[in-house]
Amino acid sequence: MADDTTDTKSSNQMWGGRFASGPDAIMEEINASIGFDKKLFAQDIRGSIAHATMLAHQGIISTDDKDKIVHGLNTILSEIESGNFEFSRQLEDIHMNVEARLATLIGPAAGRLHTARSRNDQVALDFRLWVKEELQKTEQMLTGLIAAFLDRAEEHAESVMPGFTHLQTAQPVTFGHHCMAYVEMFGRDRSRVRHAIEHLDESPIGAAALAGTGYPIDRHMTAKALGFREPTRNSIDTVSDRDFAIEFLSIAAIAGMHLSRLAEEIVIWSTPQFGFVRLSDAFSTGSSIMPQKKNPDAAELVRAKTGRINGSLVALLTIMKGLPLAYSKDMQEDKEQVFDAAESLELAIAAMTGMVRDMTVNTARMKAAAGSGYSTATDLADWLVREAGLPFRDAHHVTGRAVALAESKGCDLAELSLSDLQAIHPDITDKVYGVLTVEASVASRKSFGGTAPSEVRRQIAFWRARN
Ligand code: ARG
Repeated sequence: MADDTTDTKSSNQMWGGRFASGPDAIMEEINASIGFDKKLFAQDIRGSIAHATMLAHQGIISTDDKDKIVHGLNTILSEIESGNFEFSRQLEDIHMNVEARLATLIGPAAGRLHTARSRNDQVALDFRLWVKEELQKTEQMLTGLIAAFLDRAEEHAESVMPGFTHLQTAQPVTFGHHCMAYVEMFGRDRSRVRHAIEHLDESPIGAAALAGTGYPIDRHMTAKALGFREPTRNSIDTVSDRDFAIEFLSIAAIAGMHLSRLAEEIVIWSTPQFGFVRLSDAFSTGSSIMPQKKNPDAAELVRAKTGRINGSLVALLTIMKGLPLAYSKDMQEDKEQVFDAAESLELAIAAMTGMVRDMTVNTARMKAAAGSGYSTATDLADWLVREAGLPFRDAHHVTGRAVALAESKGCDLAELSLSDLQAIHPDITDKVYGVLTVEASVASRKSFGGTAPSEVRRQIAFWRARN
C-alpha cells in the first residue's frame, strides 16, 4: 500500500486527491488519450468558454473569475494553434491538459471552471462538436463530387456506351446516364449526412458525470452558445451515447462503398482492353519497370480505404455493444476510429472528384463497345411486340434465333439481311433496321429515369436545382 512504499511519482494533480501514489508507467500509457484527443483542443476550449460564461450568468461563479477563465482559455487556444503548447501524457487527456495550463496562467480561478460538469459530459460535447463539423465538411465535399458528375453527365448526355449486368453487355446506355447513377448514390449519402447533423444537434454539456447537477445551470444557454438546437434530454444517455460517432462511421462506410464501386469501374475502364477512359497524369502513376504502364493508383487506394472505414465502424460497434450505462473508459477508444475514417473519407472523395473532373472519355471506344455483344437484341424483341403484335415471350424466342444466326455468321444483328430475318419471322420488315442501332435504342428509352438523352437532361436539371 502507499504507506509502506516509497513513491517518487506524484499522484495526478486533477483527480489525485485520494491517491497516495502516481500510476505505473504502463497504466499511464494505456490510460492516456492525449496522443489523439489533442485534435479536440478547439472544441474543448469553445465548450469551456460557453460553460464558464453560463456559470457566471447564473451566479455560480463570479464575473471576475469568468473573465480570467475566458482570457486564459483564449491564450491557451493561441498557444496550441501556434505550436507553443506542451502536451503532457501525465495529464491524460485534452481536458486536463487545458485545465492544468489554465491553472498556471490564472491561478485558483481555474479551479472554478469544472463546477457543474464532468469530463464525461465534456468529452461528449467536444466529440460531438468535432463530428458535427466533420459532417458539415463531408456534406460540402459530396456537393463538389456531385457537381463534377453533373458536368460530365451534361457533356455526355448523348455519348453511348454499353450498359452492363453481370459485367456482360446488356443494353446500350449513355455515359451521362451512368454518371447520373453516381449522382443518385452520392445524393443519398449527402442526405444521410444531413439527417445525421440533425440527430446530433443536441448539447450534452450539463449532464455532468451522469446524473445532472445540483447547481442552477442553464443548459439551454450553453446549447445556444455552442450552436446546438437544444440540450439533450436524459443525462444518463447523454454521457453513454456514441450514436453520433457510429452514425458518422455508418455513413462513411456506405459512401466508401459507393466510392469503391466507382473506383473499381475506373480501374476497369482505364485498362487498355476497355479503353473507355484515360486518367490524367495527375491521378495516375507509372511503373518502374514497364514503361508503357499508366496505373490507376488513386482509384485503387480509394477502393482500399473502404476497408479501413469498414474496420472503424465494426471496431466502434464492438467497443460499445457490451457497455452498461453510463460512461465507461472503453469509450475513449471511439476517437481514433472516427478520426481515421474521416481522414480516409475526405481523401477518397477529394481523389474521386479530381479523377472524375480530369479523366478523358473515349466516346469512340465506348460507342464501338456499345454496339457489340448484340446489345440491341431487346430492341428487336420490343419491335416484334410493337409492330408484329407478338407476345413478349415469343418475341424473345425469335430474337434469340436471330442472335444465334448472327453469331454463326460472325456479324451484328443490323448486318443480317432482310431475307435472313424474314426466314426467322415472316412479319419482319425493313423498318426493323431503324431500331437496331445503338442511338435509336438509347433514344427510345424515354421512360421516367431511363437512358434517353432527353430523360438524362431532365435528371440533370432536377439535380442542378438541388445542388
Ligand atoms: N479521455 C476520456 C475519454 O476520452 C475523457 C473522459 C474521462 N472520464 C472519466 N470518467 N475518466 O473518454
